[in-house]
Amino acid sequence: NTSLLLDAPVGGEVRFIYYGDKLSTSDAATLLETEQKTFSAYPVYGLNCPSESALSVTHGDGNMTLQLEVIKVDTRKEQTADITTIRLKDKVYPFYMNLCYRTYPDADIIETWTEITHEEKKAITLNRFASAYLPIRKGDVWVSHLYGSWANEAQLAQEPLRPGIKMIKNKDGIRNSHTAHAEVMISLDGKPKENTGSVIGAALCYSGNYKLFFDTDDSDYHHFFAGINEENSAYTLKAKESFRTPELALTYSKDGLSGSSRNFHAWARKHKIANGATARKILLNSWEGVYFDINQEGMDQMMSDIQSMGGELFVMDDGWFGDKYPRNKDNSSLGDWMVDARKLPRGIEGLIADANKHGIKFGIWIEPEMVNPKSELYEKHPDWVIHYPNREPYYYRNQMALDLCNPQVQDFVFGVVDKLLSENPDLAYFKWDCNSMLTNPYSFYLKENQSHLFIEYVRGLYKVLERIQEKYPDVPMMLCSGGGGRCDYEALKYFTEFWASDNTDPVKRIFMQWGYSYFFPAKSISAHVTSMGDQSIKFRTDVAMMDKLGFDINMDKLTEAERQFCREAVQNYKRLAPIIQEGDQFRLVSPYSGNHAAVMYVTPGQDKAVLFAYDIYAQKYVERSYPIRLQGLDPQRSYRVVEINKMDSVPARPFVEDGKTFSGEYLMKIGLQAFSDFRESSRVIEITAQ
Ligand code: GLA
Repeated sequence: NTSLLLDAPVGGEVRFIYYGDKLSTSDAATLLETEQKTFSAYPVYGLNCPSESALSVTHGDGNMTLQLEVIKVDTRKEQTADITTIRLKDKVYPFYMNLCYRTYPDADIIETWTEITHEEKKAITLNRFASAYLPIRKGDVWVSHLYGSWANEAQLAQEPLRPGIKMIKNKDGIRNSHTAHAEVMISLDGKPKENTGSVIGAALCYSGNYKLFFDTDDSDYHHFFAGINEENSAYTLKAKESFRTPELALTYSKDGLSGSSRNFHAWARKHKIANGATARKILLNSWEGVYFDINQEGMDQMMSDIQSMGGELFVMDDGWFGDKYPRNKDNSSLGDWMVDARKLPRGIEGLIADANKHGIKFGIWIEPEMVNPKSELYEKHPDWVIHYPNREPYYYRNQMALDLCNPQVQDFVFGVVDKLLSENPDLAYFKWDCNSMLTNPYSFYLKENQSHLFIEYVRGLYKVLERIQEKYPDVPMMLCSGGGGRCDYEALKYFTEFWASDNTDPVKRIFMQWGYSYFFPAKSISAHVTSMGDQSIKFRTDVAMMDKLGFDINMDKLTEAERQFCREAVQNYKRLAPIIQEGDQFRLVSPYSGNHAAVMYVTPGQDKAVLFAYDIYAQKYVERSYPIRLQGLDPQRSYRVVEINKMDSVPARPFVEDGKTFSGEYLMKIGLQAFSDFRESSRVIEITAQ
């Protein structure tokens, strides 16, 4: 439903013309004639010094200028997409760049990136190498983006673009989404609205340091650039070597922020996240229930608990490994991926046997990129660890990163997963954690090329993940990094879901899950019921059900009534999963706009829907309730609305529309009085076409 129009005459420059609603061929031709073609589709440093550039290089002879002209344009078909490549060459130097665009006929997403190579005598240096540039016409343009910190991920910021530079960046080295996200929404016609207005969405598919910025200069445009953060990362490229920048995924919708989000969600499920089309299992993870206190009986008990809830998978978290150094705290053993036989005498085999006994699957936590100095691995291979040869190291969470630039280290990290899976083929799930940023930046392997460290680390990581995916394509993996520290669309190629935050307080989670949903589909957002927060089990479960439901809790601490509620909720979730995980999401009431939040999902056939309504800080008598107007239904059809996940002990205003039937038009024009107006209460409503 969208068009991106460029002018790329052979022998000339490549110019940006248009991005937005789909144009007919004749309208595109007219626009091509009338448009002034002011902006390069990819500005390079050289002839136009004052403007920001996407690419800047130092040639082998020291010259720092570029002037690229089109040599050829071609389009080739991939299995599910088409790639159009604009091949460019410098007018003077044997320097080549491909500007690439991948379009998916079944998803409103265009990915763009560059490929750089040269045949100069000496190596060249890449100083700046953005993936993409997009001019955005001025007006009342706003940007929505996510910011935060550990335990406070994915908070939403919305601000108008003003003169000067608005930059969103990361320099953590490994974890790249705790403090800011490499995805943005750009609302073109005024303050961002969820369901109306023109919105461009952009997601940089990259797991390392990034930089997205808008330069608002004296022209009629905002200039948007996105790519790898080049700070401390000047890249030396020898002749015939090629450098590929990460993809920037672009989308456009006139149905507001929610419309652009739905485009991302559909593309993610169809093309981007690992096994995007498969169903996800309801799991219990051991972390918040027992922390490091792992033992065979305790794990067996937790497996029995999740089985009795109707769940399908148990994941043993941190604390199961270490021989010379047992892992009882976070200060040792990372790197020593052998079972601690003192805690688990029957080993992983025994745990899998227990899982089989309970009729569920078994998965395991690993953090294979990291090492504690107190480990056998560090004692054996200190040169595999990123740290200074000649300075006191700094430890974050008592650990350091392994040097994934080094192919031997890549083999080791791949080997962690490979060994576990070849010894235990029934192992059904991995939670892959990464609890530190890149500290003490020095690679023994890279020697004099230290400025390649941040980039080569990420490439090394992808090589490992690629090998795992190739050998074990069906094993689901959760992407975790001290909560939501690593969440981007390139990493998600290898992961089925991500851990959204170590903060599982449901009120915090409403805000986070709202924020993540701007870019990521529900089935990728792991949301677990835990003991954090003192709200009712209903409120905690209703929040977790908005995304991919799981548990991280010691079920012993639940009352029988709470257990019964959870059992019913699991059954409800199993029935609703196709709607929540595969349906279209509509964000209806923002938690940022008041005391409530509401989100709904609708199947593509518009026959089933589910509404989640949350009262956050609402106070009885003080709060004036209002109906929630639904979206995405067929106005002509009738729908029956039924409240589910009910719990008598939780106070709520009665749901007056319960069990009644309404036209889609009524539900979208008038709405449902689903807010219950009690502090931290919630409602889940199942909507079925009659
Ligand atoms: C990180 C994760 C947690 C848990 C711990 C284990 O903080 O986010 O879920 O796995 O590590 O150390």
